[in-house]
Amino acid sequence: MHNQIFNKINSSGLFEKDELELNKSRDLISEIVELKKELNAVILAHFYAGEEIIYSVADYASDSYDLALKARDFGAETIVLAGVKFMAETAKLVSPEARVLLPDINSGCSLAESVNVEMIAGARGKHPNAPVVTYMNTSAEIKAVSDVCVTSSNAFKILNKMSEKEIIFTPDRLMAINLQNEFNEKGIEKKLIYVGGACEVHEKFETKYIHTARKQYPDIEILSHPECPEQVICESDFSGSTSQIIDYAKKSKNKHFMVMTECGLVNQMKIELSDKKFITPCLICPHMKLNSLEKIRDVLKSPRAENIIEIDDEIRELALKPIERMFELAK
Ligand code: 13P
Ligand code: SF4
Repeated sequence: MHNQIFNKINSSGLFEKDELELNKSRDLISEIVELKKELNAVILAHFYAGEEIIYSVADYASDSYDLALKARDFGAETIVLAGVKFMAETAKLVSPEARVLLPDINSGCSLAESVNVEMIAGARGKHPNAPVVTYMNTSAEIKAVSDVCVTSSNAFKILNKMSEKEIIFTPDRLMAINLQNEFNEKGIEKKLIYVGGACEVHEKFETKYIHTARKQYPDIEILSHPECPEQVICESDFSGSTSQIIDYAKKSKNKHFMVMTECGLVNQMKIELSDKKFITPCLICPHMKLNSLEKIRDVLKSPRAENIIEIDDEIRELALKPIERMFELAK
């Protein structure tokens, strides 16, 4: 089974290891598989966590919305979140009975760190009638002072369903601009007031990559994540969450794609859709790459207190509400 996995990865030329390293990985995988059985644990991985984890020990790999649903519905006693901290916190919020483990406590997110409770209070003060819509890439404390959560897979749909015209959107200012443009283009009256920063990875995507790709492959389709800058989205053929990008490429009759999101997703697309060709500027999220088989083994075997996600009861109660509202509105 594991040999098959490694052969699949190796044949794509993405995951080259020498024999010594391969044996080490095989041992780690066997150990993790045993620990999972012993502990009734599941491993939920984000697409950016890397193919070594996704194709060996993960029970499920997806985008941040789907991972929240799976954390809620799996019924596992232990959940290892091979992603970043806000994803592990979300898993704990929706599945409070489970022990949620984060392999590396330093796996943060520049978006989550770009906003604090005072900034939200300030925006509410200036716009008292505007609800606060919060992108999933935030801490539980920020969710606790929010009205609705969204992810890249459902932000437009949820904002569109809300009756309010003026909405505070946090923390991704680039996504807010992209959503605002979409509302304007479709002639829908909405005004997004943004509070926060940008993704340190996606803000680096530039249109020059698109221009070069289009020259080289005139039939190429450009698929971008909505955390990218406005100009990149304007020049793309499709913009969506990580799962939606995969689905789009799967369904498209086209053979050439340029993918403007974190490199981990592209590696997976090359494996899954081997009849198609993908190029990317290959920008890496350093937080996601803190995940490794070794850390997953360690966190299952003997988790340190800091790797076990705990959320204060009061915060949990408040932070769960906007997530549940998202589940409702995303249907
Ligand atoms: P998705 O929800 O599209 O997987 O995005 C999460 C993320 O962190 C993108 O940078
Ligand atoms: Fe956060 Fe950007 Fe990394 Fe996604 S890619 S986890 S938004 S820093």
